Amino acid sequence: MTKLRLAILISGRGSNMEAILKATQDADYPVKPVLVLSNKPNAQGLEIAKTYSVETLTVDHRTFGKEREAFEREMHVALTNARIDIIALAGFMRVLTPWFVREWSGRMVNIHPSLLPKYTGLDTHQRAIRAGDTHTGCSVHWVTEDVDEGGVIAQDRIEIKPTDTAETLAQRLLPVEHNLYPRALAMAAKQITPRIYAAQNC
Ligand code: GRF
Repeated sequence: MTKLRLAILISGRGSNMEAILKATQDADYPVKPVLVLSNKPNAQGLEIAKTYSVETLTVDHRTFGKEREAFEREMHVALTNARIDIIALAGFMRVLTPWFVREWSGRMVNIHPSLLPKYTGLDTHQRAIRAGDTHTGCSVHWVTEDVDEGGVIAQDRIEIKPTDTAETLAQRLLPVEHNLYPRALAMAAKQITPRIYAAQNC
């Protein structure tokens, strides 16, 4: 089996990244992790990735000021140098420009802590509680130009209890995310062929 080459983009804790890295240890899993890329030099997830012997890289968005596309071009170069086929955003907290999204169209997925199409954007748990919803959940979806609007690949749900706060909900949902993301990523991978890269001069 030819495994797709995976990059995981993170900004912080990296617990979803770790769930994916664990899943990739299975010989039958369809992707292999090649690169973990963070926009923050002190992201906790970078240290975790090293314990899985995955190459890590920081492209610090702050050094690019307001030049979002320049920041993304640097990421794009690293991703293409690593001959990446598929990207998983896992707590990556930068909104991507249409240019970058188009470059990786059909090859980039994200996990979002709500039952999309409900509650795109931030503060999803608070908004679900305030609306009186009885359930919430998490969604893995394709990344398109509109934030959190791409087609849903898979979702899982949990009940919202009357005593729940945004914090308790986030806490209870996290293991559900860890279970969902590797499964959904494998489903996404089935729809992707390896990206064609020009032969490298060695
Ligand atoms: C998760 O709740 C994920 O759904 C959201 O950001 C959080 C990232 O957590 N997009 P972690 O970095 O994977 O621990």
